[in-house]
Amino acid sequence: MRDAAPQTIYLKDYTPTPYNVAHVALDFTLHPTATRVQSRITFTRVRAEDLVLNGEDLILKSLRVDGAEVPHELSETHLTIPAAHLSDAFTLEVEVEISPQTNTALEGLYMSGGMYCTQCEAEGFRKITYMYDRPDVMAPYEVTIHADTPVQLSNGNPTAPGCWTDPHPKPTYLFALVAGDLVATTDHFTTMEGREVTLNVYVRPGDEDKTDYAMDALKRSMKWEEDVYGRPYDLDVFNIVAVDDFNMGAMENKGLNIFNSKYVLASPETATDTDYAMIEGIVAHEYFHNWTGNRITCRDWFQLCLKEGLTVYRDQQFSADMRSAPVQRIKDVLQLRARQFREDAGPLAHPVRPEAFVEINNFYTATVYEKGAEVIGMLRTLVGPAAYDAALTLYFDRHDGQACTIEDWIQVFEDSTGRDLSQFKRWYAQAGTPHLTVTDDFKNGEYTLHLKQKTKPSAGQPDKAPQVIPIAMGLIGADGAEVLPTQVVEMSEAELTLRYELDAKPIPSLLRGFSAPVILETEQSEADRLVLLAHDTDPFNRWEASTLLAKSNLMANLTAGSAPATAWLDALTKVITDDTLDPAFRALVLALPSEDNLANACDAAGIVPDPTAIHSARKAVHLAIAQHMGEALPALIAATATPGPYSPAANDAAKRSLRAQLLRLQTRLDGGTMARAAYDAATNMTDQLAAFGCLLSAGDTTVAAAFEAQWRTDRLVMDKWFAMSVAEADPDDAVAVATALTQHADFDWKNPNRFRSVIAGMTAMNPAGFHHPSGAGYRFLADWLLKLDALNPQTTARMSTAFETWRRYDVDRQALIQEQLARIATHPGLSRDTAEMVGRMRD
Ligand code: PHE
Ligand code: ZN
Repeated sequence: MRDAAPQTIYLKDYTPTPYNVAHVALDFTLHPTATRVQSRITFTRVRAEDLVLNGEDLILKSLRVDGAEVPHELSETHLTIPAAHLSDAFTLEVEVEISPQTNTALEGLYMSGGMYCTQCEAEGFRKITYMYDRPDVMAPYEVTIHADTPVQLSNGNPTAPGCWTDPHPKPTYLFALVAGDLVATTDHFTTMEGREVTLNVYVRPGDEDKTDYAMDALKRSMKWEEDVYGRPYDLDVFNIVAVDDFNMGAMENKGLNIFNSKYVLASPETATDTDYAMIEGIVAHEYFHNWTGNRITCRDWFQLCLKEGLTVYRDQQFSADMRSAPVQRIKDVLQLRARQFREDAGPLAHPVRPEAFVEINNFYTATVYEKGAEVIGMLRTLVGPAAYDAALTLYFDRHDGQACTIEDWIQVFEDSTGRDLSQFKRWYAQAGTPHLTVTDDFKNGEYTLHLKQKTKPSAGQPDKAPQVIPIAMGLIGADGAEVLPTQVVEMSEAELTLRYELDAKPIPSLLRGFSAPVILETEQSEADRLVLLAHDTDPFNRWEASTLLAKSNLMANLTAGSAPATAWLDALTKVITDDTLDPAFRALVLALPSEDNLANACDAAGIVPDPTAIHSARKAVHLAIAQHMGEALPALIAATATPGPYSPAANDAAKRSLRAQLLRLQTRLDGGTMARAAYDAATNMTDQLAAFGCLLSAGDTTVAAAFEAQWRTDRLVMDKWFAMSVAEADPDDAVAVATALTQHADFDWKNPNRFRSVIAGMTAMNPAGFHHPSGAGYRFLADWLLKLDALNPQTTARMSTAFETWRRYDVDRQALIQEQLARIATHPGLSRDTAEMVGRMRD
C-alpha cells in the first residue's frame, strides 16, 4: 500500500510546476538487486516555490544542488528541497539505489526472463529516480548504461555502446531502458525527408525466426503515416523489444517501443490469423504514437484520450486500409460493444475525459481508448475528410513539442473549420451510451422518421444533455432497391423529425457504418431485417441486420424455447453460400452474439439473465443452424481451403475464419469427426487451434494432452492451451478445470499473460462457468485477485472488472458477488489500484 489514505486527483486542480526541466542525464549501473541510478537534471525557475519531486521505493545515496549538499525532506512518495536553497537555474545531482529483481509490479525498472526493462507510463519513472513524473514536464535526455549484457538500449540515437541521446523533449513516461541477451532482426526505411532509419526488432535468442511480420508491419506503418498523414519518423533508429512479462499490450517509448511478446512474435505454426492482425494493429498503434502522443503529448493524465483515442482511430484506419474496411469496422464495433458499452452501462462508467481518479492506471479503459476513437471518427464524419485532414495538419503544426488538452484539440477543429464545437465536447464529458430511439410512419406519400436521444444517469452525472450525433442513413425499398443513398444527418437536440416524399414506405438503414457510438432502438420487423440482410448497400448494416436477427431468434429460444425461424435460417444459408461476399464477412454473419452480449440483451429487455440458460440457448440455436445447413457443410468447408504456403494476408485469413465457423457447425453434427481430420491435417496455428476448440467442445479426451505435448516449450502457444481448456470446459466443471490448471507446473501466475489465460479463460470466455449458481466462479476469481494484488496491482485491478456487470444478475448472484467484493475490499494491505476499482463496483 503506497498511501495510508489514497487521494483523489482532480482535473480542475491542474497547476504547472514551479520549475521547468531543461535537460536530463541518467547514468545506470545495472544490478538485479542493487542498480545505481545517477541523475543530473537541470532546472529553471518559474515561481519561487519548493521543488517537490516524485520518488517511490528509492534508496537515496547522495544529493547535491550545483555541487553542494542541501537540506531536503523525504517522504514515502516525494523529495522536497526548500525554495530558499534553489536559484534561477540549477543542477540537481542525485544517486539512488533500486532493485529491479524484486519489482513484481512491472512498473519502473524490472526484470523479465533475465533481461532488464522499464515501463514508465503512467507513473513508473518515480520508481527509477526523483523527478517531476508528469507528462507536462518535457526535456531532452542523455543516458549511459553500464551492464554486462550484450545489448543496452534507451531512447533516441546511439552515440557509443551503452550511450543514447534523445534530442526530442519528452516526458518521463516515455523514458525506456532495456538491457539483456537479445538478438535483433534489422531492416531499413528511408523517410519522405530522405532520412535513413535503422529498424530493429529485438527478441530473446531462439525467437529470431518470429520477427518478420512485426518488421513488415512496422515498415508499412511508417509508409502509411507518411502517405495519409504526411508525418515522417524523426530519429536514426527505431527499436522494438519483445518482453515476456508485461502488464499491457505495448508501450510507445520514444524510439524504443516495448511490446508484450505476444504482440511481436509470430510464425505460421505458432500464431493465429487473429494474432497476426493484432500484431499489425499494435505495431502501427505504437508507431503512430510518435506523432500523436510523443511529439504532441498530454498536459495531464485526464487528457489521456488525446493521445489514445486519436491513436486508436489511426490504427483502425490503417488496419482498414491494409485489410477489408467493412470487416475491420464490424470487428471494431464488436469490440466496442463488448467492452466499452459494457463498461459504460455499469458502475465503472466514466467520461472519455475523466475528471477525477485515484489511480491513473485504472483509466486505461475501453472508454478512453475505444470510445475515444469513436469520438474522433464522429468528428471526421461531421466536418468531412478534407476538413479533418486540414485540422490534423494544423494540430501538428500548432502543437508540435507541446503537452496539450482536449480544449486545444477541439480549438484546432474550430479554427480550421469555423464550426462551433462546444456541444460536441459533451462527448468527452458525459459518461454513458446514448440511446437513440427511432419510430417511423408513412402517410399520404410522406415518410416520417422520429428520433429521440437519451442517456441514462451514471455515477456523479444524474442528468445528461443531448449530444451531437452524426447519423449516416439511407432508405431501402421493400424490394431491396435503394431509395435514398447514404446521407449524414446531424442530430443535436433531444428530438428530431425527418420527412421524405416517397411513393411507398421504405425500410430505414440507420447509423450506417455505425456512425456514432449509440444504442439504436427501433421497431424494425424481422421481415425488414431480412430485406436489409439481403440488400442493404451498407455492409455494416447488412451485418447488423444479421446480428439483430440472430439476437431475436436466440432470445425467442431463451424465453420461450422457440426453434429459430426458417426464414432466418434460409437467409443465413444464402449469405454463407454467396461466393460474391467476402468470406470474412460471411464468417462474421455466422458468428452468433456472445453469451455476455445476450446477458446484456436480457437486461435491456427487462429480463434477469440466467447465464446457464443463455449458454444452452446458444448451443441449441447453433445446432439448429448446423442442422439447417446439414449436408451443405462439407462442401462449404472444402471451398474454404487455402492451398499453398501460409499467408497471414486478409484473403487467406478470411477463408480460414469462415472455415473455423463452418467446422464448429459441422462438429455439432458429427461429434468431431471432421474436426479431428482438420486437426491432424493442420499446418498452421489458425487451423490447429480452430480444430482444437471444436474437439474440446465435443468432449474429445485425448486432444488436450496431445496439444500440450506438442507445444509444451512455447509460452505463447501454451497460453492459448490454458485459455482454451477453460473456455471450452462444461460450465459445471469450469471452476474445477481452472483450479486444476492453476496447479499445473507451467502455471506461472506472476506472468500476466499466463495469469490472464486461465483467469480470463473463465471470466470472459466461459461466462456460464464464471456465473455458476454455486458462486464458485466468483470465489475462484477473488482468491486469485487477492493473491496477485500483493505482487501486481495493475493487472489485478484490470481483471477485477469481470465483476462490473453484477447488477444485471439475480439477487442470489448479486449477493455472492458483493460478498467477494467485500472480501477483497477489506483485505489488509490491498493496493490502491484494486481498492479504487472494487470501491467503485461495490453497492
Ligand atoms: N500507452 C500504451 C498504448 O496505448 C498502453 C500502456 C499504458 C502500456 C500503460 C503500459 C502502461 O499503447
Ligand atoms: Zn496507445
